[in-house]
Amino acid sequence: MNPTESILLEKIAGAAKEAGKIMLEAEDIRHTIKAKSGHANFVTAFDERVQEYLFAELGAILPGAHFVGEEEGAEVFKEAYETGYTFCIDPIDGTSNFLTGYRPSVISIALFRDGDSYLSVVYEPYHRLLFTAAKGEGAYLNGSRLHSSKEPLSRSLVSFGTSPYDPELMEKSFELCKMILPRCIDLRRSGSAVWDICQVAMGVTGMFFECKLRLWDFAAAALIVEEAGGRITDLNGSKLSMRGPSSILCTGSGVSQEVEHL
Ligand code: IPD
Ligand code: CA
Ligand code: CA
Repeated sequence: MNPTESILLEKIAGAAKEAGKIMLEAEDIRHTIKAKSGHANFVTAFDERVQEYLFAELGAILPGAHFVGEEEGAEVFKEAYETGYTFCIDPIDGTSNFLTGYRPSVISIALFRDGDSYLSVVYEPYHRLLFTAAKGEGAYLNGSRLHSSKEPLSRSLVSFGTSPYDPELMEKSFELCKMILPRCIDLRRSGSAVWDICQVAMGVTGMFFECKLRLWDFAAAALIVEEAGGRITDLNGSKLSMRGPSSILCTGSGVSQEVEHL
């Protein structure tokens, strides 16, 4: 990584850590809930506050950058984002965890350059876990290099997401669970897709899948897991478009040898 890139990554990480304080200091979270469209899709005042903070800080770091953020509404990558810098942010991934006190919840920031994944920062404030990646330069957790697991599926934990805001996908999600459970050690459901993908990057789990995620749910973590030697595609095994919602199949290097699609 050249010095300019590492300074940029450091500044973005600094903004994520500061934003993490908003989550750590949050009180009375349930009283700030607003419902969004879709089943059990909530936003709290803190999701909005973290996003506002990041838009302001990151906008000052890279003036002129575009923003795609969960609480901003735009779901797809617009043509204007194909040139220059674009941040894709999930201010709090794991909002239902955040408002109930279940863990984890994380801040997710992806930076695209001319439409391509460039830098990623994911921050879990409760244990001060900082995941970073730069295209072609590896992925790190608090400065230590990450490597996905070489274990086969039969010796791996598998996590999955339930696509909770798209109830029409419930049958399919649980059909996949029934198919995979007998082939792995066991299944896990964390409540944060960003965290789940980072767990594959860490080599803790061997695989993660979810029938539908939005761009901000996977943009940053996708680069992290790829830089850790894992693979991330849609459920059919096709390359991610990184331009809008998608199904997700993410595998460590071991499981990648045997599972190419679901
Ligand atoms: C959700 C979480 C969850 C996943 C959902 C996401 P949010 O994001 O990542 O694990 O199952 O599909 O939408 O709403 O907590 O930011
Ligand atoms: Ca999310
Ligand atoms: Ca969110």
